[in-house]
Amino acid sequence: MSAASHQGEVVLVTGAGRGIGQAIADAHAAAGAHVIYVDYDAALAENAAAAARDKDWYAIGLGADVSNEAAVNAAVTAAVEAFGPITALINNAGISPKSGADGRKSPLWEMPASEWQRVVDVNLTGAFLCSKAVAAGMIAAKKGSIVSISSVAGQTYCDFVGVHYAATKAALIGVTKHLAGELGPYGITVNAIAPGRITTPMMMGTASTTNELIRQATPMARFGTPDEVAQTALYLTSQASRFVTAQVIDVAGGWLMT
Ligand SMILES: NC(=O)c1ccc[n+]([C@@H]2O[C@H](COP(=O)([O-])OP(=O)(O)OC[C@H]3O[C@@H](n4cnc5c(N)ncnc54)[C@H](O)[C@@H]3O)[C@@H](O)[C@H]2O)c1
Repeated sequence: MSAASHQGEVVLVTGAGRGIGQAIADAHAAAGAHVIYVDYDAALAENAAAAARDKDWYAIGLGADVSNEAAVNAAVTAAVEAFGPITALINNAGISPKSGADGRKSPLWEMPASEWQRVVDVNLTGAFLCSKAVAAGMIAAKKGSIVSISSVAGQTYCDFVGVHYAATKAALIGVTKHLAGELGPYGITVNAIAPGRITTPMMMGTASTTNELIRQATPMARFGTPDEVAQTALYLTSQASRFVTAQVIDVAGGWLMT
């Protein structure tokens, strides 16, 4: 992708304060897009956007909880006021609750219903609310792209995540295929990325012994980087993929081969 491949694009990335979301936002900004860095943690969002502006990229940071409809709508309104209609949305914000020093997930029989609900609210309802908030503008423009960050854990069993996480990541694939159908007639593509093990603060929440077993089970024998996920997102929001929709692309080094 050239340094100007995304010139004129306005890209909103959720969970962009760190990790994969920040890398996706940075990759789009480096490619010439105007980028809105949205995060639950407003300071993280603003710091990431400020670092982008230091590189002479177009960026603003906004605090918003993607599970809160009013906050999502306010963020989208502020984004459009700053940069114009949103042409690409990346539903990246996600949580995978773990407890203890060994990063233990709650098994079904110990999982509080409140923990289940919070994961559904953030990982799934958040993507619904953000997609809904940008859809009218994309439909009016008859162009746009939506990319959701699912997981290999949404396609097969991963013993280190909870059932809430697996359920929401699988559901994002259903959302992706359904919205590709509803929005395709308006020239809007909708796709998902299923990362394997990627080096981010979320990954560090899992025990290092577990992560090492995943590395050994990955044919490419290493973890992925946030930028390797970002480059796939950049492709899915680019002109190069304008006839690609309803797809799930694994960025996993061959791990689990879903
Ligand atoms: N790291 C991995 O190995 C991996 C693998 C597969 C999928 N994923 C997915 O990739 C995405 C990013 O993961 P990561 O590893 O960068 O995680 P991370 O925890 O390092 O970063 C997630 C960011 O999302 C923000 N966030 C959390 N809840 C939010 C909310 N309600 N509203 C707005 N922002 C919120 C956090 O503040 C944080 O900045 C997630 O959806 C995750 O499930 C990660």
